[in-house]
This record gives sequence, C-alpha cells and structure tokens, in this order.
Amino acid sequence: MKGIKVLTGSTSNEIENRTSFMEIYRNNPVPEGEILSNLGLFINRQALSRILFMHELYKKIIDVHGVVIEFGVRWGQNLALFQSFRGIYEPFNYNRKIIGFDTFSGFPQVDEKDGERLSVGDYSVTDGYENYLEKILDYHESESPISHKKKYELVKGDATKTITSYLDEHPETIVSLAYFDFDIYLPTKKCLEAVLDRVTKGSVLAFDELNCQEFPGETLAVKEVLGLSKYGIKRSTLSPLCSYIVIE
Ligand SMILES: C[S@@+](CC[C@H](N)C(=O)[O-])C[C@H]1O[C@@H](n2cnc3c(N)ncnc32)[C@H](O)[C@@H]1O
Repeated sequence: MKGIKVLTGSTSNEIENRTSFMEIYRNNPVPEGEILSNLGLFINRQALSRILFMHELYKKIIDVHGVVIEFGVRWGQNLALFQSFRGIYEPFNYNRKIIGFDTFSGFPQVDEKDGERLSVGDYSVTDGYENYLEKILDYHESESPISHKKKYELVKGDATKTITSYLDEHPETIVSLAYFDFDIYLPTKKCLEAVLDRVTKGSVLAFDELNCQEFPGETLAVKEVLGLSKYGIKRSTLSPLCSYIVIE
C-alpha cells in the first residue's frame, strides 16, 4: 500500500493492537472454503457498527422509489453491502440501481475550506482497482435474484464533472439514498446541489463526516447548500460521525 495516504484518528496502542491482530488473521487456519462464511471472526466492533449503520440507512429507503448513490466509493465496501441488502429485502426490485462515483485515484482537488491536513491524491486506491471492484460487485449480483440484469454502475472521474453528465444521460433518475463520503468540500457541494431536485419525500441524504474537525469542508458544503437549521440532521447510536437527513 506504498504511497496511499489516509488520515487516522487511532492511537498508537490501537494501531499496535490491530497490527498484531492482522498477524493472527494472516495465520488463520480456517480452510479456504469456509473463510467467507466466517468473516465475523475478523470484523471488529468498529467495522461491524459501520456495516450495521449502512443497514439502518438502507432499511429506511425500502419503500422509497429510486436509486442508491455512494459519493466517494474507495474500496467499495458500502456498494457491496447495498447490493446484499437489496438482495435480502427487495430481491425483485431490479429498478434499485446502485451507483458509485469516485476518481479511484483519491482527491482530485482540495479546497482551502478543507483545512491544512489534506492533499491532492489522498485516499487513493491501487492502480486499476475499479476493475477488481467490478468483479466483486458482479459476484454479489450473482448471489441474488435477477442477476442477469446489471444493477450497479461505477462512474469513474471527478464527480464535480461526472455527476452532471451522469444525470444528463439518465434524466429518469430519482435518488432514494445518497451517501456522501467524499470527505471534502467541492465535490460534496456540487453533488449535493445536483441531486437536490432528484430526491422525493422519504429520500435519505447521509453524510460520513459532518461536525468532524478533520474534514470541515463536508459540513461547510452542507451548510451552504441546505443550511444547518432547515433539516433535522439525525444520528444513530451505531456511529459517532455518520449522520443523515430524511427529506420530508
Ligand atoms: C473516505 S473515501 C470513501 C470511503 C468509502 N465510502 C468507505 O466507506 O470506505 C473518499 C473517497 O472520495 C473520493 N473523492 C474525493 N473527491 C472526489 C471527486 N471530486 N470526485 C470523485 N471522487 C472523489 C476519493 O477518491 C476517495 O475514494
């Protein structure tokens, strides 16, 4: 993972503890055929809470028409989770497309509103990762009904530009859930503006880093586009950082 920069809020004790656990994970004696069905062995409380939070969000939009979008995909875990939730709760809803926007090369720009700690290229992934992610998403699609229809899309590039072309090419788009996880000001602002006339009553706009000192740009974008007092910004006991707005 040489050259990939991310911010971490973990203490050195936590990092050490997790590094030793990685060793335990690497040396696991579970036979290959049983690993995927025993992943709970290795998912810690924090990662599990995040999965449960995504589940909580998804359950809120089951009776809301429209697509699910993740703005800021990175390794793509949330897209894979959303596919499984669709397979579990609405296996025949082939209309529920799941769309992910990312450069797959980290931040393409950073604004002064994002503070001093972030740089262009942070949160990148490995070269060509989107091709690997497609294979993962194809697999998850294959494990649920109506797998002959492709129901996900990765939109590669700077989302401040690709969001407009995507919506021009898909004028039918209604957004039931948008998960904002760019971490930074400009793409959050542009994409939030772009989806505002695509949401309906009950749609959920969720945010990974509001009220987060390390990533002030995300809050500033929401403040400028929505205002902070017009909507209830809700949180869940599952996460100290993530929040969401339900459009009423
Ligand atoms: C924190 S990561 C996303 C993490 C992911 N949602 C998760 O839960 O694991 C932020 C992502 O936003 C992407 N990103 C930031 N600015 C972008 C932009 N203008 N266009 C497209 N992607 C962008 C980065 O490439 C990075 O993958």
